[in-house]
Parts: sequence; C-alpha cells; structure tokens
Amino acid sequence: MPGRSLSILLGVTGSIAAYKSLDLIRRLEGEGVSVQVVATRNALPFFPVLTAEVFSGHPVETDLFNPVLPRGEGEGRVSHLALLEKADAVLVAPASADFIARMALGLADDLLSTLLLSATVPVLIAPAMEEAMYRHPASSAHRKTLRERGVVEIPPDSGPLASGKSGLGRMASVDRILETLLPVLRETRPPSGPLSGVGVLISSGPTREPLDAVRYIGNTSSGRMGDALARAALARGARVTLVSGPTALPPPPGCDLHRVATAREMEEALGSLFPSHPLLIMAAAVSDYRMKDPVPGKRKKDGGEWTLSLVENPDILKGLAERKKAGQFLVGFAAESSLDPDRLLEKCRNKKVDLLVANDISRTDIGFSSPENEVTLVTPAGGFRTLPRADKTAIAGQILDAVLASGWTPPSALA
Ligand SMILES: Cc1cc2nc3c(=O)[nH]c(=O)nc-3n(C[C@H](O)[C@H](O)[C@H](O)COP(=O)(O)O)c2cc1C
Repeated sequence: MPGRSLSILLGVTGSIAAYKSLDLIRRLEGEGVSVQVVATRNALPFFPVLTAEVFSGHPVETDLFNPVLPRGEGEGRVSHLALLEKADAVLVAPASADFIARMALGLADDLLSTLLLSATVPVLIAPAMEEAMYRHPASSAHRKTLRERGVVEIPPDSGPLASGKSGLGRMASVDRILETLLPVLRETRPPSGPLSGVGVLISSGPTREPLDAVRYIGNTSSGRMGDALARAALARGARVTLVSGPTALPPPPGCDLHRVATAREMEEALGSLFPSHPLLIMAAAVSDYRMKDPVPGKRKKDGGEWTLSLVENPDILKGLAERKKAGQFLVGFAAESSLDPDRLLEKCRNKKVDLLVANDISRTDIGFSSPENEVTLVTPAGGFRTLPRADKTAIAGQILDAVLASGWTPPSALA
C-alpha cells in the first residue's frame, strides 16, 4: 500500500511498566509510525487510557465483544480482526509474565490474545517483571517457545524494580525498543521516498586521538548534524549507514551504526563501506592531527613540560573522492573561519566533492555544538546558495533536497 504510513498495534498488559508505553507512543508517532493500542483488562489500573488515546489519536481497545460492523462501514468501533488489517507489526510492551504464558499456550481469552493468534505480521515482546518471575523456568520456557515461533524478544534491562529490589526485569528502554522495532517495520514495508532503498553513508561526530591511555585530542562536535542527516535520509526512504565518532546521542532508529574513535578508525570503516553506498555525506569533524607516539599507560606529572609531537592524519574525504565510481555522489563538510567564495570554490574542486557544505566556525550561535546551523552550499560548477539559520533537522532536509535537485540520479546498483 504505497503512501500509507507505517502502523503498529501496541499491546499493553498488566505490568507496572505500562506507564512507559505512553512515551513509546509519543516516540513512535514522532518517527511517523501510527499506533493503535489494545490493552488487557489487567493493564487498565496501570495505564492512563485517555492520555494514550490523545497521544495515539485512536481509542484504546480492550473489549473482544464489540459489535461487528456490517461490511463496508469503516467508521466507528471495529471488529477485532479489522484492528490487525492496518498493522505492519504487533508489539506487546510491557509484556507481563501472565500474558507471555497465554501467548505461548495460544490462548484467546481476550482481545489482545485473540488478535495475536490471528496475526501474520512480525510480533515483538518487551517483557517487564520481577527478576524471579523472569527467571522462573515456566517463564523461560514460554519465552523460548515464542522465540522458536519467530516472536522477537526485546530483553529487559537490569536496574531498580517496582518491588524496591534491583535486578533484571525492567522493560527495555524506549530507545532500545525502537532500535529493534523500526528496522523490523522498515523491512516489512520499506518506506517510500525519493531515496527509497538507496544506500547513504554518513560520517558524524568528532574523533579522539589518544595522547596517552586516558587523554586525547578531541573537538566540540556534538554529532547532531550527522544525526539529523541520518534521520532525514531515513525519512526519504534511504538505507542509512552511520559511522560516528564518540557522541552522547542515541543512534537514529533504523540506521546501521558503526562506532569509531580515531580518524584512522573512521578512515578504515568508511573505506570498507564506501564502495556499496551511492551517496556519501562526510559530516564528521575529523582531527587533522594525531599524537606521533601516544604514551603507553597514563603519563605521570614530573614537574616539567610535556611537548606533544603531532603528525597529520589522512585526508579521508580526498582519499575516498579519488576512489569514487560512476554514479556515486560525495558531499563534504568544511569548517571555515571565513566564507570567502574563491577559497570555498577552490576547496570544493580540490576535494573533488559534488557538493561542499561550508560552516562558519567564527560564529558561536551556530555549528559545532549548537542545535542550529547556517551553511553555504557550493558546487564545483561555481553554484553558491546559503541555507539561512535553522534547526539542524531542517538544514539536513534541505541538504538532501539539494543533492536530489542537483541532477544526480541514484544508480540502481554500483559497478
Ligand atoms: C502492583 C502490581 C504490579 C504488577 N507488575 C507486574 C509486572 O511488572 N510484570 C508482570 O508480569 N506482572 C505484574 N503484575 C501481575 C499482573 O498484573 C498479573 O499477572 C495480571 O494477571 C496480568 O494480566 P494480563 O497479562 O492480562 O495483563 C503486577 C500486579 C500488581 C498488583
């Protein structure tokens, strides 16, 4: 069904963790996934139904015995099977020990369990319970049965539990649930868009060059620009691979994340991934220098000076540009202290990129660790365009739209 947004049926069961399902609904809606909640009767004391209805825009369904509508009448309350028609996946979060047992046994004694017996789409569960319940042989056996049937278990976290004890059994964080669910959804029905199925490789964040075992040369890049580009590419249907230096950001759900630390690690990761990606966007702030001989262990204070001997790091972008094949498109980022047009054009041509995105680092209100940016786009033919100051999400979308408007057509396969 092209054009229809992704949709899930969210089962909520009788666990204290049910309040977290509200955050899950908001985050899913934010990712463009429509949510229909079906709650068990025992979930209701734990679950703010009205808030969930406002967040999801749909009534929370609980009752198996709703009137069945005559054929052709789509409005109003629907029969239980109709709830499944729109769902690309079913996620039960939180999944109580009791509900997992009923799923494993194939019971159909309420709306959610009945729907699950009819479901032909992927099914995921996020168990939430006390550690003793989780580890009980009966619970373990039920989860094993479900896994063998193809149900994806998103294992719980360890930490403080509702009982006041600490242990395994907290429902997986919303970030972790999305990291598992969104790729499953996108595989079920790849999002349509101008970059549908196109491999987009993005470098992001800072690099860290060790001085000794604990100290490093870094920079203030937050990784937000790369993160925004990854999300914008995913929203346009791309298959996104993100190679990121150390950042505090969770990976955009649905992308293939490769974490690196040094410039040379980044060079190696990008070098092996580049041949299979038609579009490369180099948004990382890569250190130009590294310590010639990092000190083994931690350097002790000795009352004297510590003179650092630095050597140049490889120019990753230039190296990749030299290996560019027909059909590949390269976007380079440049951090400049002045946006002199002649210098920018020279840089664009020297680096052999198809689009240069120049940041003015003399401004503290935009760029590196700011949520906003203002950039100048430069093409090798001498085209200049400034994208006025805006949120990095908006800037990322405009950069991708500029790539798509450049005349480049993503190849169906790379030679
Ligand atoms: C305060 C309270 C908290 C509970 N928390 C959990 C829980 O986190 N996980 C769980 O499996 N059961 C929990 N239970 C027990 C379930 O609510 C109970 O097994 C219920 O039958 C589950 O029904 P359902 O699976 O139909 O939703 C809790 C019960 C109470 C009273």
